[in-house]
Amino acid sequence: MKNLMFNDTISFFYYILLFAIYCFMGWTLEVIYRSIAQRKFVNAGFLFGPFIPIYGLGAFIIIVMQHFFQDGHLVARFIVFGLAITLMEYLTGFLSEKIFKMKLWDYSENKFNLHGHVCLHFSIIWALLALVFLRFVHPAVFQRVVLLDEEVAKITGIVFMIYFGIDYTFSVMSLAAFRKGVAYLYDQYFNLSSIEIEDILQSFQRLREAFPDLNKYVNQNINGRIKIKVDSFLKPLQEKIILEMEGRRPFEKEYYEAVQDILQHEEFLKLKDYFHHNSSIYHHVHDVAYLSYRISKYLKLDYRSAARGALLHDFFLYDWRNHDVPDLPREKFHGLEHPKIAVANARKHFSINDIEEDIIKKHMWPLTIVPPKYKESYIVSFADKYLSSREFINEYKKRINRRQGKKSAKKP
Ligand SMILES: [Fe+2]
Ligand SMILES: [Fe+2]
Repeated sequence: MKNLMFNDTISFFYYILLFAIYCFMGWTLEVIYRSIAQRKFVNAGFLFGPFIPIYGLGAFIIIVMQHFFQDGHLVARFIVFGLAITLMEYLTGFLSEKIFKMKLWDYSENKFNLHGHVCLHFSIIWALLALVFLRFVHPAVFQRVVLLDEEVAKITGIVFMIYFGIDYTFSVMSLAAFRKGVAYLYDQYFNLSSIEIEDILQSFQRLREAFPDLNKYVNQNINGRIKIKVDSFLKPLQEKIILEMEGRRPFEKEYYEAVQDILQHEEFLKLKDYFHHNSSIYHHVHDVAYLSYRISKYLKLDYRSAARGALLHDFFLYDWRNHDVPDLPREKFHGLEHPKIAVANARKHFSINDIEEDIIKKHMWPLTIVPPKYKESYIVSFADKYLSSREFINEYKKRINRRQGKKSAKKP
C-alpha cells in the first residue's frame, strides 16, 4: 500500500486537520471505553474539548513508520508499531510525571508493566489498532481531507491551532490546580466544613473520571498521610485500654444509658438474625460500640456519639455473603454501599447528629476516598477493624479445630 501521507503538494494545514481528526477519534474511543467502565458519560482526556493529543501524535508516528516498513510482513509491522507506540506512551507518561508530579495513568497493577507507564496488554491493543487504522481509517480520511479547498483547510487549521493552544493552557492550569487542591485538602482537612470538602472534591470530578488512576494520587496524599498520623495516635491504645477490657462484662451503666433506646428498638433487634464474621451483626456492633465508647471516654471525646454511631455503623438488614435485596442488588459492592444503607436506616429510625452520621458513613475508611471528619469516626473505624479481624481469626481457628476434630474422629 502506498503511503498517502507524504504528499508534498498539500499544505501544512491539511496535516493540522488530520491531527485534529485523529485526536477527535481517539477521544471518541476513550469516551466509549471509560463511559462503559463507569456506566455514565465520561469526558475523557485532559483537554476540556473533545480531543486527545496523544492519539493524534500516535497516528502520525505510525503513518511515518508505515513509510519505512510498508513492504514488511504483517507480523513484523505489528511488532514495530507496537514498540513505537509503547515508546511514545512511555515517554509521555514519564514526562507528564516529571512535569505534573503525578501519574495520569498507572498500569503498575497490570502484568508485564514498565514503571506503570506502559504494559504488554495495552501495547498489544495499540499495535492492533495501528494496523486497523493504517488499513482502513487513514486512507479513507486522507482522501477526503485532501479534497477540501485550500482556503477552508487553512482557516480551519488556524482555528484549531488557536483553540488547541487555549485549551492546552487551561488544561495544564487545571492539573496544577488539582495538585494544589489535594495539598490544601490535606493541610486544612480538619478546619474545613463538610460542604467545603465536598466542593473541593467536586471540582476535581472531571479529571478524576477521565483519569481514574488519579484517585491513587488523592489516596496517597490525603488518606495515606492521615492514616500514618492516626495509626501512631491509636496504636498505643491497644495496650492501655483494649487489654484491660478483655472479657469484661457486664458493660457500664453509663454506656447502656447512652444507647438503650437503640438496643431496644424493634428494627434494630432484627440485626440479631443476620450473620457477621462469627456471630450476628447485633453482637458485632455492640462490641464495636462498647470499645469505641471506652476509647473515646479515655481520650475525653464525645463518647455518647461514638457509642451511638458505632452501634448503627452496620445497620443493614441482609446477609452480606449472599445478597440480592432491594437495598443492595447483587451487582453492587457491599463494602462500599453498606455505610450509605446504614446511614439511611439510622436516619429513618433515629435522630442522628453530625458526628454519628460521619462515623457510619466513613467507617470503611480508607476504602472510601473521603477521610473521616471527627476523631470519634477514626476511633470507630479502628475499633471495627480491630474487632472484625479478631472475629475473623477466631472463626477461622474454630473451623480448623472442627476439621482436625473430624479427622481424628475418623482415625481408628
Ligand atoms: Fe461495616
Ligand atoms: Fe462493622
